[in-house]
Amino acid sequence: GELFPGRTNSAGVDLADPLVRGPLETVLGELAKVDTWIAEPTAISQTSSKGELREIRSPATDVLVGTCRDASPGEADAAIEAALAAQPKWDALGGTARADLLDKVADLYEENRDLFLSVCQREAGKTLTDAVLELREAVDFLRYYAAEARRLFTPEGEELPGPTGESNRLTLHGRGVFVAISPWNFPLAIFTGLVAGPLAAGNTVLAKPAEQTPLIAGYAIDLFHQAGVPTQVVQLLPGDGAVGARLTSDPRIAGVAFTGSTETARAINRTLAERDGPLAILVAETGGQNAMIVDSSALPEQVTRDVVASAFQSAGQRCSALRVLYLQDDIADGMLAMIRGAFDALVIGDPADLSTDVGPVIDAEAKAALDGHIAAMKAAGRTVWQRELPEICAAGTFVVPTIVEIDSIADLSRENFGPVLHVVRFGAGELDAVIDAINATGFGLTLGLHSRIDATRRRVQERARVGNFYVNRNQIGAVVGSQPFGGEGLSGTGPKAGGPHYVARFATERVVCIDT
Ligand code: NAD
Ligand code: ALA
Repeated sequence: GELFPGRTNSAGVDLADPLVRGPLETVLGELAKVDTWIAEPTAISQTSSKGELREIRSPATDVLVGTCRDASPGEADAAIEAALAAQPKWDALGGTARADLLDKVADLYEENRDLFLSVCQREAGKTLTDAVLELREAVDFLRYYAAEARRLFTPEGEELPGPTGESNRLTLHGRGVFVAISPWNFPLAIFTGLVAGPLAAGNTVLAKPAEQTPLIAGYAIDLFHQAGVPTQVVQLLPGDGAVGARLTSDPRIAGVAFTGSTETARAINRTLAERDGPLAILVAETGGQNAMIVDSSALPEQVTRDVVASAFQSAGQRCSALRVLYLQDDIADGMLAMIRGAFDALVIGDPADLSTDVGPVIDAEAKAALDGHIAAMKAAGRTVWQRELPEICAAGTFVVPTIVEIDSIADLSRENFGPVLHVVRFGAGELDAVIDAINATGFGLTLGLHSRIDATRRRVQERARVGNFYVNRNQIGAVVGSQPFGGEGLSGTGPKAGGPHYVARFATERVVCIDT
């Protein structure tokens, strides 16, 4: 668009082209044999205490992918001190210089494509298709936030109106040190976005990746440094929630950029409220209980394709993923038969195999929670359709893809973050009641609608309290700059990632008024 001249989204990788796919598969096969990944805290100063070493294993095969040394309390303290000292200079650099560096990071990400795809597949269990999309989104976040830094952080700022003889100017500045706390389900894209947004705004950043996926994060931060972002300006601090809690409770922190579960966002909010120091900003993108409504005017083939993609791509481990499908009762049986046909054709297995549609879930804990949910649904006598797991899944943390009929979205007490689709039937006159039930969950992330009736679309659009509403398509895979992403209510604070209000949220505003 006009606001961002010269910025286009990354082209990605055309996996349909055998001349692209063939060599890529060969390279990934070779890389999978190398076992040298390591992540550790950015070395800023010598500290006596060092954190524990942990093994990172593939959720698909349990094969060792690398090791991670978590940040010790001493390392976290040294990192905050260094970030604090470096921030004024990084802020003074201005938007254009910071943007040039972020663009350079984006170029390096693209140059390191194969390594990123390899570690993403092995550490996070992503299919190649998902890994390619993940890298694209990461690159797009970098370039989008770079363009935003150029647009918003100019030395002259914005001139504001006033009486003759008075000059008023508004400028934006970094607030200080931000902690970027990210989830495992987009270990490169969301990790990168949460780091790049605050950086673009002139903050220094302490990056705390999810404990499950520190290796790809460590590689990403190396590339920030290679591009010329000073080591004190962005630092890696791997570890579990305790490391995140230590960082967020520190009074030297100006704010937190977070994506993860709603419970963790609440915990961080409490921590920030109770500590001393400046009033801190929390930007939190959290969970969902995402629905899709399908009425009897919908095109069944399209619905089938979009339901299966929304619910089962990425093994259902997208915050945007479809959890509850509302089918109008007169088409429900026919629609379910078609959806089950496509569901039965999904290939479940090792993500290293290009034909795989559904890979593992992230770890044993996630598997146990999902298995427990499915068992409870069965025990309650619900109608359940399930796939069988092939032999190859035995070594990994796979969950049996499942479709289950329930009575209402209100039957679900929590977000079930995996390959489980719930189906509810509704009657022709119940559209408003359906939307109200969806709103009543308190979540408001994604909502899908399949209908060819314009009045229905308008009705849902007016009534639903949701961040991203998708009509006659799937409801995953928001594109940076086109579908800025994020929810409301229990799903997050906003502003939307990959949208025009994001970067400014990490800044502080100053006005200078001069009587000339
Ligand atoms: P999680 O909340 O368990 O962990 C997220 C991060 O928070 C991790 O880095 C973790 O170590 C850290 N953490 C945990 N406790 C902490 C504490 N007390 N203080 C500070 N940090 C702490 O979430 P997850 O399992 O990694 O991710 C899955 C969740 O993320 C799902 O709920 C999903 O819906 C959500 N998600 C939301 C979006 C979005 O854009 N809205 C995108 C992706 C994922
Ligand atoms: N941005 C990701 C999606 O839309 C979460 O699927």
